[in-house]
Amino acid sequence: MYQERVLKHFKNPQNAGRIEDADGIGVVGDPSCGDFLRIYIKVEDNHIVDIKFEIYGCPAAIATSSILTDMVKGKSLDEAWGITDEDILEALGGLPENKEHCSNLGAEALSKAIISYMVNF
Ligand code: FES
Repeated sequence: MYQERVLKHFKNPQNAGRIEDADGIGVVGDPSCGDFLRIYIKVEDNHIVDIKFEIYGCPAAIATSSILTDMVKGKSLDEAWGITDEDILEALGGLPENKEHCSNLGAEALSKAIISYMVNF
């Protein structure tokens, strides 16, 4: 079963949506055939001042994306870059073993969004 914190983020996802004038975008997966996560970031003074996500995935993936965006908002790019799948799992209080892989989308999409910002900076 899912932890209460997972259900809370699944039922009421934080920062869902898109940022039209995003400074960086990271995409993991393929929207045409399976699990997919897109993360948008807005950066000011080397800090992520806004972050949103769009997802096609299971409740665990929605919850991990939601809590990741809460964890990242306001962090420096260096701090955000250091966030791992394990950090996300820990913040959620864990996931059922067969759902742990669902947390892998978040950190990877965030890294890609930061790289996309750095490349365009
Ligand atoms: Fe595919 Fe969770 S994202 S099973």
